[in-house]
Amino acid sequence: MSKTATLEIDGKKYEFPLIVGTENEVAIDIKTLRGATGGVTTIDPGYKNTGACESAITFLNGEEGILRYRGYSIEELAEKADFLEVAYLLIFGELPTQQELDKFKADIKEESVVDDDIKKIIDAFPKAAHPMGVLSSLTSALTAFNPEAVNVDSEEDMYKTVCKIMGKFPVLVAWTMRKKKGLPLNYGDSSLGYVENILQMMFSKPNEDYKQNDILVNALDKLLILHADHEQNCSTSTVRIVGSAHTGLFASISSGISALWGPLHGGANQAVLEMLEAIKEDGGDTKKFMAKAKDKEDPFRLMGFGHRVYKNFDPRAKIIKVAADEVLADLGVEDPVLDIAKGLASEALSDEYFVKRKLYPNVDFYSGIIYRSMGIPVEMFTVMFALGRLPGWIAQWKEMRARKEPIGRPRQVYIGENHRAFKAVEKR
Ligand code: CMC
Repeated sequence: MSKTATLEIDGKKYEFPLIVGTENEVAIDIKTLRGATGGVTTIDPGYKNTGACESAITFLNGEEGILRYRGYSIEELAEKADFLEVAYLLIFGELPTQQELDKFKADIKEESVVDDDIKKIIDAFPKAAHPMGVLSSLTSALTAFNPEAVNVDSEEDMYKTVCKIMGKFPVLVAWTMRKKKGLPLNYGDSSLGYVENILQMMFSKPNEDYKQNDILVNALDKLLILHADHEQNCSTSTVRIVGSAHTGLFASISSGISALWGPLHGGANQAVLEMLEAIKEDGGDTKKFMAKAKDKEDPFRLMGFGHRVYKNFDPRAKIIKVAADEVLADLGVEDPVLDIAKGLASEALSDEYFVKRKLYPNVDFYSGIIYRSMGIPVEMFTVMFALGRLPGWIAQWKEMRARKEPIGRPRQVYIGENHRAFKAVEKR
């Protein structure tokens, strides 16, 4: 393959180098475009054709259904590693040795308290506040309680900050849910593993012991691994661009949470359950809603089906379907909403419209089912997504700073008025 791309503007040719990634992805390096051409820029709404960075963290190939963190396949990681092992891999680049892993877990535990004054902030939110807004605010507030700026050139400083956010974030997640449910805000139990402690912090009641369920622990662990990174999606790009102004890690992550909140991004898992509820309210006729989804005159779409990037199957959905089946069987949940979900999935998988368009249930379809059967309120689903995505955001922020990337500052093509003279108010 040639090593350059040629662009011709007004008869003048410009050469730009091609960059080839380790998986043979090719990009045209246009860093010199404006300088060489005297100001010509590119336009690409939604950045569908724009690589914002070079990254060594996550590789995904939507056509072939491949997702790898640092070269390891998501299937192998979900089967053989736990969430903190995967977090370490994403953030520091290599799987930890036993010693490194033990230390990482112990150091995170050490940081698993937040300033008790954060409870006052939570108290000030109305109970009806959406948990994503609360979580974003609390994560930003962590900066106020931990104001020292991280020295990104110091491995030790960076490591400490990573442990801080990994330790404190689950407390904020659990408190966000407990506040909504009117439960007292607790600190869990530091003798437990990371995921067990999250479940304990979320579900323990003041008047009874919380009993751990290995199947739920396994399902949540897998869900967190599957959501841990997904390269340059909307929230991750947000974290990188906010951090590119040398904004701190916690504040950058807080903005990532706001991006994830949107129904076109992390909010889709909530939309799945809302759709299932609506079908139930309507009488539970799945065939009617299948027909609506296929009707081009009807804007209705089956939430939890299809994916922008994965056009054959979502590798995460394959893994999590197994965990969802285990959870449902173990809990013996009798839930008409979940019956509707199962019905829709089996109908869609054998329906010509869906098969032809390669519309399979995506990760959000099954994650919603698991969260619901665990008793997690629908509004908390995207918060659970954020909990899983945290290591990815950290890894991407750290990489962006380590590579000394310039401040993110896109260009535009101005389409407004040309220069005009100011008109006094009485003459307008
Ligand atoms: N229900 C019915 N028809 C659908 C659906 C659906 N869920 N998704 C796509 N189609 C049809 C679409 O109408 C089009 O048909 P035609 O070729 O006849 O015009 C065809 O399938 C291709 O769809 P598309 O809109 O070109 O696909 P896209 O890549 O633009 O959209 C999507 C991807 C995820 C936005 C879309 O599939 C969708 O809206 N799904 C439901 C929402 C959802 O579950 N989102 C969560 C995705 S996973 C989240 C994450 O990984 O962060």
